[in-house]
Amino acid sequence: MYSQESIRWDFGLGGSPVVFFHAFPLNRRMWEPQERALDKAGIPWFAFDYPGFGESQPPSRPLHMDDYAELAFDLLSSRGVRWIIAVGLSMGGYVALSIVRRRPEWLRGLVLADTRATADDSVTVQKRRMLKEEILHTGSMEPLIESHLNIFFRESTRTTNRDRVRTVENWMKMNSIEGVITALDAMAGRPDSRQALQDFKVPTLVLVGEADPITTPEDAREMVRCLPHSVLDIVPGSAHLSNLENSEHFNRSLLRYLRTILNG
Ligand code: MLT
Repeated sequence: MYSQESIRWDFGLGGSPVVFFHAFPLNRRMWEPQERALDKAGIPWFAFDYPGFGESQPPSRPLHMDDYAELAFDLLSSRGVRWIIAVGLSMGGYVALSIVRRRPEWLRGLVLADTRATADDSVTVQKRRMLKEEILHTGSMEPLIESHLNIFFRESTRTTNRDRVRTVENWMKMNSIEGVITALDAMAGRPDSRQALQDFKVPTLVLVGEADPITTPEDAREMVRCLPHSVLDIVPGSAHLSNLENSEHFNRSLLRYLRTILNG
């Protein structure tokens, strides 16, 4: 599926209690505001690009959501990392939920941001199939870019923070078609994780942008209802990319949570 050499990753401060899982169709750089905050707090972190995203090589076969999680496990366990705190946003949350289902003992903490524990419904599966066909037909990321910018940021951010929006747009253009198509199929095929959340005993932070149109505050509340130990924080002034649209609030909440886990 991949060789470790085909995957691009960054290690902050040399160890990795905090592992960042990026959203679709972005890359590990979306976590830079959080990485800077963790560097300042002296907390080690790790972030990587999924196959075919950012600077990683495209996948050579279809992938299940569990394969993205196993990739992180392989990269880190081969470097002596025994446990992690997983932080996943949207598709990154789906990858983190795969770890909850299959390797809960690897998690000392979990942050689920702008994501959901349910599987795709038939309408969403169909939308992904149509998007995939359009990308394959046109050979371009354009259909993806337009639709995603509208859900990533509130309209006011799209007009006032053109630089940030342009950066995210450029990240979307960097991905390979194989990477994007493979991830669309993996998202459409992922299972429901609600039962695994009910069995998960580790304190969990759930974050969601107050105006997230696709993984909504109601999706976040549903995860909180499943989890035995969780805290919900609604990020004000933010749509889907809450870590970028209101980094200040997101970082404050993340650091507060990390301190309780790491000092507890
Ligand atoms: C993401 O932001 O990772 C995706 O939009 C999630 C999804 O399409 O379900």
